[in-house]
Amino acid sequence: MKAIILKTQGGVENLQMVELPVPRPGDDEVLIAVKAVSINPSETYVRQDKALDWIFKGETPKILGWDISGVVVQTGKNVTAFKAGDEVFGMVNHPGHGKAYAEYVAAPAGHLALKPANVTHAEAAAASLAALTTWQPLSRIGIKKGDRILITAAGGGVGHYAVQIAKHFGASVIALASAAKREFVLQLGADEHIDYQTQRFEDVIGRVDVVVEALRDEHLARTLNVVKPGGHLISLFNKVQGTRWEQVAKEKGVMAYYNAVTSNGDDMKAIARLLENGVLRSHIGKTFKLEEIPLAHLEIEKNNTQGKIIIQL
Ligand SMILES: NC(=O)c1ccc[n+]([C@@H]2O[C@H](COP(=O)([O-])OP(=O)(O)OC[C@H]3O[C@@H](n4cnc5c(N)ncnc54)[C@H](OP(=O)(O)O)[C@@H]3O)[C@@H](O)[C@H]2O)c1
Repeated sequence: MKAIILKTQGGVENLQMVELPVPRPGDDEVLIAVKAVSINPSETYVRQDKALDWIFKGETPKILGWDISGVVVQTGKNVTAFKAGDEVFGMVNHPGHGKAYAEYVAAPAGHLALKPANVTHAEAAAASLAALTTWQPLSRIGIKKGDRILITAAGGGVGHYAVQIAKHFGASVIALASAAKREFVLQLGADEHIDYQTQRFEDVIGRVDVVVEALRDEHLARTLNVVKPGGHLISLFNKVQGTRWEQVAKEKGVMAYYNAVTSNGDDMKAIARLLENGVLRSHIGKTFKLEEIPLAHLEIEKNNTQGKIIIQL
């Protein structure tokens, strides 16, 4: 099979297409013929940063990527949930060695859900890591109808699902995005758009119940100021525990924490239901081929993605 391996940490030239044997599924795994892969910013971080090498668990070759949608071609002997021919999708082995940049992936059955028939493989792969990232915290914190939620980077991969998920729970959504993404975030259901390049959100929005914070340090310092006491700040990039932000949040009575997305088949099934019912829609910003993954990395590194970047096999 064709796969894109990471030769060593560094630039996109270190991502190389090679021929590898098709993996053999373990007892609890299924072998999937991959139809679509989605690209996430963290794959570019791992590509560049030796400190993140732990995700490969010492295994070689190193194959980046976690999000796949495809067709089951073989099942391990303990797998009863899926059979050959099933269309499945999910975020595989995250955090860890997902090995998604390949024509075939051996994936734990417990990380997958059946792909709804009304969405394409591209739309399903898109709605894996990026959708789970806010589904996991937002579905667990008990959002009440009318709660006000500020979503940063609202037009990107994670943000565009976060807007839809927050609306699904009945929240009133304030979306922070560039002017170019105004219509997009409003169409997703946001009640209000703030162009972060021309407006300071803290001057106009008042207090909110929840912040989804996808940006870094200085931004977290600002978003902490707009959360009501007792509210939540879900940080997707900066750590909070053990940092100065932990103390600041404590003084303000805000529950602020870093949330890391984790593979979970039950959550994938919840996402599948939302896709099936049309509650959640994937927006595909750009599509590349498997051999163009280096270009897809350069594209996501521009940090202005609308929706998701997809690899179509
Ligand atoms: N903790 C976790 O488990 C987890 C999981 C997934 C992602 N993440 C992190 O969450 C972040 C977002 O991921 P993603 O997949 O959504 O990235 P993405 O698809 O690349 O989207 C990034 C978005 O940020 C917007 N943006 C850039 N600068 C901004 C600013 N100053 N203010 C507001 N928006 C800005 C960009 O568009 P505009 O500037 O045009 O608005 C773009 O839409 C990344 O840092 C990623 O590593 C964390």
